Amino acid sequence: MKRGILERWRAELPVTERTPMLSLQEGDTPLLAVPRLAQWVGVADLHIKFEGANPTGSFKDRGMVVAVAKALEDDARAVLCASTGNTAASAAAYAAAANIQAVVLLPEGKVAAGKLAQAVMYGAHVVTVRGNFDDALDVARAASDAHDVALVNSVNPFRIEGQTTSAYEICDAMRAAPDVLALPVGNGGNITAYWLGFQRAVERHGVATTPRIIGGQAAGAAPFVRGHAVAIPETVATAIRIGNPATWRPAMDAASQSGGMIGEVSDTEILDAWRAIARLTGTFCEPASAASVAMLRKAVADGTVSHDERCVCVLTGNGLKDADLVIGEMKSPLVIDPDATALARALRW
Ligand code: F0G
Repeated sequence: MKRGILERWRAELPVTERTPMLSLQEGDTPLLAVPRLAQWVGVADLHIKFEGANPTGSFKDRGMVVAVAKALEDDARAVLCASTGNTAASAAAYAAAANIQAVVLLPEGKVAAGKLAQAVMYGAHVVTVRGNFDDALDVARAASDAHDVALVNSVNPFRIEGQTTSAYEICDAMRAAPDVLALPVGNGGNITAYWLGFQRAVERHGVATTPRIIGGQAAGAAPFVRGHAVAIPETVATAIRIGNPATWRPAMDAASQSGGMIGEVSDTEILDAWRAIARLTGTFCEPASAASVAMLRKAVADGTVSHDERCVCVLTGNGLKDADLVIGEMKSPLVIDPDATALARALRW
C-alpha cells in the first residue's frame, strides 16, 4: 500500500512520538518522460512531475499533511488559511480527515469553481474576503496571532518541510538531480521548499548536484520580477494571482543561489503551454501549473537553458479544478442525429 508523506519521509520531517500519522496517501506522484512536449519546449530531455495526482489535486497536500498533523499535536482548536483555492481545498480535506475545524479565507471572485467546491464539500467554513489574496492573508495572519488557531499558509514552516519531499522523489526516480527544475511561483513557498529539498538531497542522500531552479510568474502578477509588490495582480492563472508574496527573501535566494532565475510569462504563453501539455502528454494541469512549461520554453528560446540540459517541470495542480476556463475553450460542439452515417459525415470520414 502507498505510504503518505509522514510515514515515507519520517526521518526527514519534524515528526515526533506525538505526531499523528495523518495521511490521505499524498506524494509519490508521477514523474513522466514527455518527448513530444520536450520538442515543443526545445530540449532533448524533459520530465513532468504531476502534482495534480495528489489527493486533493495539488502539491499543497505534501505540506498540509505535516502542518495539520503538527496543529493536532499542538492541540490547536482549528486550522486557518488564506488561499487562491488550492491551499483551501487541501486544508479543508486534511482537517476533515483529522476531525478538526478548517476556516478558509478566499479572495472575492477569481477562485476556480472546483477548488471552492472541494472546500465546501470537505466541510470547511468558507469565508469570502472583500479584497484579493494578499488582503486575505493579512486577515489570516492577524487572526491566528489573536486566537488559538494554526495558520497553515506556507509561512507555516511545516508546510515548507512537507513540500521538500517532492525534490527527494525526483532525485530517487532519476537517480540524480535534473540540471534544471522549472515551476510556477506565486507566494514563494514552493520554490523555497524545492531548493531546500535539493540541498538536503545532496547533504543527506549523496546526490551529486543541485538543479538550477527556474520560476515562472504571470506577467500581470510578477512581484519577484518587478522587485516590489504589485498592487493589483491580474492573470488568468488565478492560483498565482498574488501581488505581495509572503516568502520573499528565501524564494529569491532559491533562484539565485541555485544559479536559476524567476522570470515572467504572458497569459497567452501560459495558455499555449497549458494546451500543449494536455495534447502532447495526456496530462491535464491547471493554468498556473503551465507557467512552468511556458517559462522553460522561454528560457530555452533566449539561451538561458540549453537544449541538452535534463529538465523537469512541476505541474502543481489538476486541470479539473478550473473547468470553467475549458468551457471557454470549446468550439461549438458537433451535434448529430443518433446515426453512424451522420457521424461519418460530421467528421468528414
Ligand atoms: N501552482 C498552483 C496550482 C498553486 O495553487 C500555487 C499557489 C502555486 C503554483 C504557487 O506556489 O505560492 O508556493 O509560490 N497557491 C496558493 C493557494 C497561493 O492559496 O492555493 P507558491
